[in-house]
Amino acid sequence: MDKIKVIGQQRLSGKIYISGSKNSVVSLLPAAILTDECVIEKVPHISDVDNLEEILRYLNVKFSLESGTIYIDNGDILNKPIGEEYSSKLRASYYFMGALLSRFKKVEISFPGGCNIGKRSFDFHLMGFEKLGAEITIKDNLYIIKADELKGAVIDLPFPSVGATVNIILASVMAKGVTVINNAAREPEIENLIEFLNSMGAKIKGVNTNRLEIDGVSKLSGGKIKVIPDRIEAGTYILAGVMNGDDLEICNVEAKHLTSFFEVLDKMGANYKIIGDRVITNKTLNLKPVNIETNVYPGFATDLQQPITTLLLQANGISVLKENIYENRFQNVQYLNEMGADIEILGDTIKVYGPSLLKGKLVRTSDLRAGAALVLAALSASGETTITDIKHLLRGYSDLIKKLSNVGAKIWLIDE
Ligand code: EPU
Repeated sequence: MDKIKVIGQQRLSGKIYISGSKNSVVSLLPAAILTDECVIEKVPHISDVDNLEEILRYLNVKFSLESGTIYIDNGDILNKPIGEEYSSKLRASYYFMGALLSRFKKVEISFPGGCNIGKRSFDFHLMGFEKLGAEITIKDNLYIIKADELKGAVIDLPFPSVGATVNIILASVMAKGVTVINNAAREPEIENLIEFLNSMGAKIKGVNTNRLEIDGVSKLSGGKIKVIPDRIEAGTYILAGVMNGDDLEICNVEAKHLTSFFEVLDKMGANYKIIGDRVITNKTLNLKPVNIETNVYPGFATDLQQPITTLLLQANGISVLKENIYENRFQNVQYLNEMGADIEILGDTIKVYGPSLLKGKLVRTSDLRAGAALVLAALSASGETTITDIKHLLRGYSDLIKKLSNVGAKIWLIDE
């Protein structure tokens, strides 16, 4: 069941509801172990969540999931070494570094997994733990991080890393004294995490700014949060609508999280309308080429770089797209070219020569957002496309096949 088939060029109409954000929930679940009991609503149906639940189960955390709401009880939690069989399934397993260090002052965890889209080192996370007073030993792939006491510190991040910001918040929330994170990431998912921790009694100030101030508290208790809508999933389906929509409605969208994305669509002349939390999209002809650079929030999200490349294929002229966050996030290009695109890779930049007529082919998903780019390509290509290795897609797109089938796409899993 690791392949999907798509018959392209169907018009899409009806409603697609956006699920809770992957990049939020993957920090909220590790954060949940910092309290006694808590509730997380709007949990998406993705394999990254399944894999984090596996880790919670292994740590003897009790939880139940009912209609997207997870109830967590940490009454019997145990601090156990998290081996590679758990950690390598996703990137965010490393948020248990910050969370377990915070709760038990000691953590043993193997190297994390995640998409192969660049170096993705986590030296800033480790530097942050050390500043808080932790000692780190690395044996092969095992990270042993411990502290007699965690003490507040001023931490200047060399780059506003999402992961480092999350891990340092988790580690410092019960440290003694005040921690300041300068040059912190301010992605909406960080705001979601801070709201959750503050609902447990944490004292974190500076939401939505690059300077976070965390006044350590001795204990956290309770906690409730709703996962914000996934801005990348929303962007992906909006692109599907601009390519193939017939009044396709994308519902539960937080439009303010997608400002840079909408600016690009405006420049291209895309046909879409925002009405409250819905975005109504229509197939747009005569799209204009555009230049895009990815950047940290509120810049154009790197996670939408690969999906929007598929739209650029339909523009009349040359678009230029520069990737500033990751070194290896163009693995979709080879397959798009095999489907009939004309894209040239020049280091950290691609040149997309539009318009191209795509034809269905056998293609492979190399990473999550490359997979999304290929699904978009398959939906607008003539004929049949088979996409293999869709496990990457299932990590981050909740009920992808069901959502697209419901609006008229011909897409199904192949059971072989
Ligand atoms: N970096 C370092 N050292 C560090 C941390 C980061 O050099 O200690 C570099 C990375 O190598 C990368 C850049 O800084 O080149 C950005 O990394 P960041 O830490 O901000 O990203 P991340 O936390 O690893 C999260 C999302 C990504 C998303 C980025 C940027 C999660 C689990 N992942 O990754 O999501 O692309 O932020 O917004 O939240 C995806 O959803 O497809 C995805 C890859």
